[in-house]
Amino acid sequence: MVTFVSNAFCMKQEYVQIFDTTLRDGEQVPGCKLNKAEKLVLAKRLDELGVDIIEAGFPISSPGDFEAVSDVAKTVRNAIVCGLTRAVQKDIDVAAEALKPAKRARIHTGIGTSDSHIQHKFRSTREKIIERGVAAVKYAKKYVEDIEFYAEDAGRTDNAYLAQVCDAMIKAGATVLNIPDTTGYCLPEEYGAKIKYLMEHVPSMHKATLSCHCHNDLGLATANSIAGVINGARQIECTINGIGERAGNTSLEEVVMIMRQHPNLGLVTNIQTQMLSETSQMVSDAMGMIVQPNKAIVGANAFAHSSGIHQDGVIKNRETYEIINPHDVGVDTSSIVLTARSGRAALAYRAKKIGIELTKDELDLAYAAFLTYADKKKEINDNDIPEIVKNAGISL
Ligand code: KIV
Ligand code: ZN
Repeated sequence: MVTFVSNAFCMKQEYVQIFDTTLRDGEQVPGCKLNKAEKLVLAKRLDELGVDIIEAGFPISSPGDFEAVSDVAKTVRNAIVCGLTRAVQKDIDVAAEALKPAKRARIHTGIGTSDSHIQHKFRSTREKIIERGVAAVKYAKKYVEDIEFYAEDAGRTDNAYLAQVCDAMIKAGATVLNIPDTTGYCLPEEYGAKIKYLMEHVPSMHKATLSCHCHNDLGLATANSIAGVINGARQIECTINGIGERAGNTSLEEVVMIMRQHPNLGLVTNIQTQMLSETSQMVSDAMGMIVQPNKAIVGANAFAHSSGIHQDGVIKNRETYEIINPHDVGVDTSSIVLTARSGRAALAYRAKKIGIELTKDELDLAYAAFLTYADKKKEINDNDIPEIVKNAGISL
């Protein structure tokens, strides 16, 4: 049985590295390809946001991506710049070339390790897959010290074999072991148990970092990544707005805010959280991909209250219905939205904001008029309020 709160009462703070793959896995969203200039703007932003690693692309995939990775490598000042490869020498040569200008570079190489990938994709054997992985890591090591190895489909890979893979890659020189739940299949308890198993059964584990790379096919990417770091992983791979292949990747803003809002996990990051909202908008604009309004942390409704009971509470004290201060993620203020479900307190609050102070009797009259309007209109805005008040027979 895996414990999800193994270090809940430990006061020691452990650092979790944030590996942003918005520009690589995130960019694999159909129709959301970024050009070189767009990638560069976002890379600078991610660097300012405080991510530890920027996966800038897959250099062998196209000349445009090669140049984009190279430009990002020339520009980024703080973060490590990483390029993806298959366990293929040519991929590694090209990635190394693209990463040459980086102050700090990482090559991310790997191969599928689940029986499904080994049999159907590679028509190979477990032993040969380890040999190919080891050869790729050793080859990449010629170019850079920092090598991350991904065991693709680790989520469905047998744990004992995965431990052998990790040990062999660390011995070959890998500094980070990426454990992707490529198909988004794992349950949080299962993914947490996998990380715990590797922490305990890979003899050379003390020489490397385990990384969580979770996809969201069952809506569990965030939960799985958090289960991973609770059980010993110290890097999370994620994207802004959770964009990525199919149902997407782990959302950066979600994992970062979970660790921040739950200090007794004892896990910290370097993310400047006040930049999250604007960064989300920048990615959304560049990709032409709207953020769903109810998206945690960065959705338009994340700090909007529309039911009368909630509004009354928030107006009295924000913390009655908000667990995050909107300022902490770069949102100016919580909003009180006027709909047919709103109460008197919300109408009085919004009217006061535009300079209309209503007495108790006036509020009763105005509220009756408001409900008639609100039943016809989805949302009442500031321009509607004076008209509602006048129609209730109140002179302004
Ligand atoms: O999901 C995955 O397995 C990947 C690897 C290429 C790291 O994106
Ligand atoms: Zn992925």
